[in-house]
Amino acid sequence: MIIRIFLSLLFCCTPLLAEELHHQTLPNDNPRITLSHFAFGSCWKSSHSQKHWQPIVSNKPQLWLWLGDNIYADTHDMGVMKKKYAELGATTGYRQLAASCPVLATWDDHDYGWNDAGSEYPERKESEQLFLEFFDERPDSPRRKREGVYTSYYFGEGDKRVQLILLDTRYFRSELKRIDGKPPYRPMGRWTPDESPEKTMLGDAQWKWLEGELQKPARIRLIGTSIQFAAHHTGYEAWNNLPREQQRLVDLIVKHRAEGVVFLSGDIHSAELNVMDPENCYSLVDFTSSSLNVPLGAARTRRRVGPGYGGANFAMVDIDWEAKDPTITLAIKDTNNETRLQHRVQLSELTFDKTNLIAHATYENLAGKWETFYGPLTLTKKSDGKWSGHCADRKLSLKESSYGLEGSWQGEKRSGKVRFELTRDGQFLRGSYSYEELPLQLEWSGWKMDWEKYFTRDDYHLRSKN
Ligand SMILES: [Fe+2]
Repeated sequence: MIIRIFLSLLFCCTPLLAEELHHQTLPNDNPRITLSHFAFGSCWKSSHSQKHWQPIVSNKPQLWLWLGDNIYADTHDMGVMKKKYAELGATTGYRQLAASCPVLATWDDHDYGWNDAGSEYPERKESEQLFLEFFDERPDSPRRKREGVYTSYYFGEGDKRVQLILLDTRYFRSELKRIDGKPPYRPMGRWTPDESPEKTMLGDAQWKWLEGELQKPARIRLIGTSIQFAAHHTGYEAWNNLPREQQRLVDLIVKHRAEGVVFLSGDIHSAELNVMDPENCYSLVDFTSSSLNVPLGAARTRRRVGPGYGGANFAMVDIDWEAKDPTITLAIKDTNNETRLQHRVQLSELTFDKTNLIAHATYENLAGKWETFYGPLTLTKKSDGKWSGHCADRKLSLKESSYGLEGSWQGEKRSGKVRFELTRDGQFLRGSYSYEELPLQLEWSGWKMDWEKYFTRDDYHLRSKN
């Protein structure tokens, strides 16, 4: 009797015995769907809290987009990988979400197969088959006819046409250059930027395809990349580990005058916004949401603008087509559905109009009080033209340069170099500093105290780090 009770409990409670999940899929072209409200996220583990699903479902997104590390397979055994996908497919909250809207996906290292893996991963073909099977890839999908999971979707028509490009940053990627946190990169991750011309992020076929995609008409181009595109070097995985490849994509955007580009990314186990101001291009925004349920505290990169968010999160993307100048609102939400970060970008800011290509900031914009990771930072221009600053016990001595402000900082026990620049729009401070004579590799970004208009104050982040 006890055994029977045990067995019946096992059968009704064990999620792995749930009926196989079938995803709602979409064709590559969806002219009748005007995309205006969708959700995305990354980095999900079956063994962690599943609190995030309900708030995502309650937002009623038009679609759910996976940006990678959708499972943590980390295996060479395809049986294990299949089991991990089955765990996701049996998760109640995910099943509710998948029942409510179509699901689109690309992958990152852990679901591709192995931590930080690239083209050297031996089971990449088999792993791709499991990915396509799990997400119910359509039989006529171009993904079924080529190597790698890169693809694109189109939504809406005419001036409401949205292109969603999903990149594959794993299948073809060359091996990265390892530094393993040795000095001067001790506080950072294991990889260092590699300028080797033969190294690739996307591989020839995917680059060729992407160049073609960027020439197709679309008002908004959302580029989903599992690893961050715009982030500066942190030692962890990002496009910046292959700077030539990062620049190659910027060059393609410029060459084809591809307007309306916004990057969406995941991977880093925290949420943030990075903004890149490349020459001859409008500012490129890269909005990162990670992780759904394995948060690791706010990350810090030198192109981050505003605070980061270090708790479990997902992203909502809203497009207001009714506005004269349509607006994209990027929001990071926590597991209580509260907005933690928010950024709005208007389509007119994502064009090659010359006002978007030049810096509007002056040195005067640097003066004043900035909120930073280390507490409020005050920058003051002195009567002799030099600058001073202070932040907690750090005193700064700075001078104007082509970069912005450069100089040194002095704390009670340590000292080093520091420099600050303004984003092209003058709204954010991007800084970096070092200890003693080491290279400027640590992030010290700042944002104005009244920036809550656009960013919700991240109390979790400030409390845990100060
Ligand atoms: Fe990853």
